[in-house]
Amino acid sequence: MAKLRVGILISGRGSNMAALIKAAQAADYPAEIACVISNKADAGGLRIAADAGIPTTVISHRAYPDRESFDREVSAALEKHGVGLVVLAGFLRIFSSWFPEHWAGRLINIHPSLLPSFKGLHVQQQAIDAGVRVSGCTVHFVIPDLDAGPIIAQAAVPVLQDDTEDTLTARILRQEHRLYPEVVRWFGEGRVSASGNGAKVAVEGLPPGGTLLFSGEL
Ligand code: GRF
Repeated sequence: MAKLRVGILISGRGSNMAALIKAAQAADYPAEIACVISNKADAGGLRIAADAGIPTTVISHRAYPDRESFDREVSAALEKHGVGLVVLAGFLRIFSSWFPEHWAGRLINIHPSLLPSFKGLHVQQQAIDAGVRVSGCTVHFVIPDLDAGPIIAQAAVPVLQDDTEDTLTARILRQEHRLYPEVVRWFGEGRVSASGNGAKVAVEGLPPGGTLLFSGEL
């Protein structure tokens, strides 16, 4: 069966992108990374992708008069590479509503909190400040509302008394690198039901609780 062609959008270091590239190097992985697009020319992840032989493109949002014209250019680049799933991996640009509507059901993001808690930026510090004992990361469909699309899977980690933003960020990031390749695998296997706003997402053939990873690692 043909592999799912994945386009990854980044703005920075690209550690989640690197985890996906590594996963996709396995012969039996059902998805391949077709292209990596960054809105920033100095994103560290661009070098990692190029070294892995993946086509990279820089599309600077500064070159476009408004969000939608930038979004349409990104979309055209993804379509040129025959992308079937768009994966946001530290992409720090807010879309116009056109982009998530155009890619509805084929556009996912990873966020470093257990949504719907802690949206926006510095969410690990938000979790520490709130005194929660558990946090983690969420992979979700992207809809026009920020950090609000239907949840596909989550990974949970402990929040410790003496955690700093850095230590909690690192603990969550290790789980991001497990969770995201797993979710993209499910898409490649055609097991994720595309979902509109408000609906619950189902993944076929998983044991109960299979869309939740736990890590007790401190
Ligand atoms: C990750 O924490 C991800 O959850 C968030 O942005 C960060 C990107 O890190 N959306 P990286 O570029 O993948 O290393």
